[in-house]
Amino acid sequence: MFVSQPTVHVINHLDRDYLRQALEHDVRTGLTSSPKWLPPKWFYDAAGSELFSRITRLPEYYPTRRELAILRTSAAELAAAGGADTLVELGSGTSEKTVLLLEALAAAGTLRTYTPVDVDAVTLAAAARRLAGRFPEVAVRAVCADFERHLALLPRTGRRMVAFLGGTIGNLEPATREVFMKELRATLRPGDTFLLGADLVKDTGRLVAAYDDAAGVTAAFNRNVLRVINRELEADFEPEAFAHVALYDARHDWIEMRLRARRDMRVRIGGLGLAVDFVQGEEMRTEISAKFRPEGLRQELVAAGFEVRRRYTDPAGDFTLVLAEA
Ligand code: AVJ
Repeated sequence: MFVSQPTVHVINHLDRDYLRQALEHDVRTGLTSSPKWLPPKWFYDAAGSELFSRITRLPEYYPTRRELAILRTSAAELAAAGGADTLVELGSGTSEKTVLLLEALAAAGTLRTYTPVDVDAVTLAAAARRLAGRFPEVAVRAVCADFERHLALLPRTGRRMVAFLGGTIGNLEPATREVFMKELRATLRPGDTFLLGADLVKDTGRLVAAYDDAAGVTAAFNRNVLRVINRELEADFEPEAFAHVALYDARHDWIEMRLRARRDMRVRIGGLGLAVDFVQGEEMRTEISAKFRPEGLRQELVAAGFEVRRRYTDPAGDFTLVLAEA
């Protein structure tokens, strides 16, 4: 028996050479800095995306559930307000939550195209196929790209809604975030909208627990960046020689994840011809995840040239979804 396969276009802006060069640059820059650091985007190979999916189901990790709750009650209203025929989703991952938005836009009768954008080609292609099967009337055009660098390559036609969900905006440093919002704003035309999910400032204990779960899944996710570097850049990190650290920086309103060396060690990164020394107790930053205050977020959007049209917060006040217009 034949099962018809929906057509899915995957446009890849991240060929192996590009990825390798970007990773080489980031690793060389981060590991020769003091203190050392690594950018969070390199968590997401296929194993890292899978670990992140497991994180979203942990009892301590509330953001995904809260955002889903908001989408369940408000997707129809968002869809009506956005009136988009093209949904572009930055950092789409498995696109799990997006289904609610796609259903609402499809029900509103406007949706024609869905463009998920992600750095992990494997997870992206699987999500694109799954959604194309579920929404046969929608053209799924997946773009494997780095949303920090490739905003200019996203579709320019139709009435667009650009969704940036999950609180991933919090991974950007404030200065980078400002540039990102302005660049995004510059690609939008009147009538286009920006749907932004952001995690809110709350009790420090709950914040830290969300990034340091009892089952150790976040610790494994954190160490995964070392496995990626080992594989891609012929390095000899011993992931278990690093302890997972999650702390809340109340001055900046952000969670920091770090990896702390359990002993003195020298790591060789063959692909870079680089040897990196760690002293026992040394901490390397691997992620910031900023938490927002509603008014601060509004001001950042306004400073980038957006106007807030709708704002939703879950009943617990944990997470917010903002629909902004250029
Ligand atoms: C996917 C960026 C939203 O910052 O909460 C989860 C990643 N890091 N646990 C976040 C993450 C540690 C996550 N985002």
